[in-house]
Order: sequence, then C-alpha cells, then structure tokens
Amino acid sequence: MTDDIPDAVRDAAPGDVTGTAARDLPRDTAPAEPDAVTCRALAYAFGDTKAVDGLDLSVHAGEVFGLLGPNGAGKTTAIRCITTLLPVPAGMVGVFGCDPARERMAVRRLLGYVPQQLSADAALTGRENVSLFARVFDVSRRERAARVAQALAAVGLADAAGRLAKTYSGGMIRRLELAQALVSAPRLLILDEPTIGLDPIARTTVWQHINAVRAATGMTVLVTTHSMDEADQYCDRVALMHRGRIHALGTPDELRAELRERRRASGEAGRGEAEPTLEDVFRDVAGRGLDEQSGGFRDVRSTRRTASRVG
Ligand SMILES: Nc1ncnc2c1ncn2[C@@H]1O[C@H](COP(=O)(O)OP(=O)(O)O)[C@@H](O)[C@H]1O
Ligand SMILES: [Mg+2]
Repeated sequence: MTDDIPDAVRDAAPGDVTGTAARDLPRDTAPAEPDAVTCRALAYAFGDTKAVDGLDLSVHAGEVFGLLGPNGAGKTTAIRCITTLLPVPAGMVGVFGCDPARERMAVRRLLGYVPQQLSADAALTGRENVSLFARVFDVSRRERAARVAQALAAVGLADAAGRLAKTYSGGMIRRLELAQALVSAPRLLILDEPTIGLDPIARTTVWQHINAVRAATGMTVLVTTHSMDEADQYCDRVALMHRGRIHALGTPDELRAELRERRRASGEAGRGEAEPTLEDVFRDVAGRGLDEQSGGFRDVRSTRRTASRVG
C-alpha cells in the first residue's frame, strides 16, 4: 500500500509545509553546505511546563555556537531534542539537513554528545570507557583500537588511559567524556555545560583540546553554558535563551555594541556606565523576569559535581 505512494507525496506528508517550500525553490547555484543545526519554532513541554517554547536557531557549519541562559531556561531540553533523545515532530529540527524525526540514526551518526550528567563509568578504565562508546557508535571493529587511542590522545589522556576513571580528577573526567564523544569522529560536537564545576585551569584545558580537534577536523561545536565569560571567550556566536526562547543572538561583540547603542539612545551612556559585558546584555534583553525567576547568574550553583560523584 505505502509502496504505491509517490516519493514526492510521501516526503511532503502532513506537517512538512516548510520543507516542501524549501525544496521547491529554484536552484541555479550549487547548494551551500547545510547548517549544522536548525531549529524552527521548536517547542517541547513536560506537562504544563513549556521547557522550550518556540526556539528559532541556525548553527552554521564550522562555528562554535553558545546557547546561554540561566538554570531552567530550556537549554538541555533543546539539546535533547536536537540529539534525538526527546521526540519532536518533523520539520522542527535539522542536523546537516537530516530531520531527527525521520532519520534518527543518520542524525546520531553525525554527532557526539557530552551530556550535563556524568556519562563515564567510574569502575572502568579511561580506555574501557571510550571503547564502550566506540562500540555503541558503530566504530568498525578493525578501526576501534586506533580510534580509541586517537580520541584519548586528543584530550591528553593517553598516559592515564589504563587507570580506573574513579582515580581521575574532575577535569580529567570531563576530558574523558570528551574523548567518548569524539571517538565516532562527529561533524557536530554538542556539549551541555562542559566546564561546570571545573577550576579555571581545567576549564581552559578542556577548551584547548576542543579547539585542537576543531582545527584538525573543522568540526562544529554547539555548547550550552550559564557562564557568560566562557561564552565570550570561546564562542563565535551566542544565543541568549530565557524561558524557552531566544532573546538575542549574535557575536559577543555585536551584542555588546547593540547594548552600548541602546544605552546611548536612552541617554544612559555618559553616566559613567562601564563597558557592557555579555551578562549586562542578558539582563537588558531578558528584563526583570530573570531576577524574579531564577535569581540571575550569580546565584546559579553547580548542579554537577563530577569529582565528588566519581570519587
Ligand atoms: N524530565 C523533566 N520533567 C519535568 N520537567 C522538566 C524535565 N526536564 C526539564 N524540566 C523543566 O523544563 C524547564 C527547562 O529545563 P532544562 O531544559 O533542564 O533547562 P536548562 O538546561 O536551561 O537548565 C525547567 O523548568 C525544568 O524544570
Ligand atoms: Mg541544563
């Protein structure tokens, strides 16, 4: 029965109106590389809680994109929709042009994911942890040992690979989780609060390893954080998320320049206002609701205590 339906009709099945329109556009130039991630009016609710509430977003191939916002903004939920871990209707999400609702496995093969919760097993060695992910992500048996060694080396854990993960520091655990996500050679690396609970040196080290892999492979990075400093330092573009939506989007410099302009227009400048920070931008666009609902960024406490949980 379904075999009788022409492909064009089946592809345009209910709810895929935007997809059809995009496909029908005339193409007289070679198609550009699709964006690494697109979200169109992405929405996800847990009962009455609208965790993600109309999210529009494009992450370009090759960039480091930061999704910023306080606890409860909806960052993790959005990430879980993009990584196929939460089901969303067709047309809301694209990963390099693949729709998680239709091509779940294809999407999973494109990405590496470091979740917010601990994903390494304390009772296994570093090498065993990474091997496990290599098996789960279908790295061929022939290539496995070499790819595991390569991933461990890429995060500076070659020498510690034979030790149990429970002997690792918090920073080493985070790098081990990074190796787990990198072992499948993903085109898109998604990191959910990668440096939460880490000291500044461990945090810098994690980013150095991420950037070294990017330089070698051109991998795209989508990272969530509530650290404005971190976003400012490492992200090409950032989106400020609050209560399930994006409130501002641009390069950190653009966002700061826009706030400076708004302050000037409203006559606030010249009263000795310091150069705006990304946090100032967020407060400006999210408004008072930020303080009422979440207590703002200064009150955010680490929800993740890697070292203590493993040790
Ligand atoms: N599994 C769940 N069940 C019920 N509510 C959830 C669940 N996960 C998240 N939420 C709620 O959804 C909202 C967004 O949460 P989350 O996506 O984790 O935000 P963030 O990652 O930005 O801190 C919050 O109000 C949170 O309480
Ligand atoms: Mg989260």
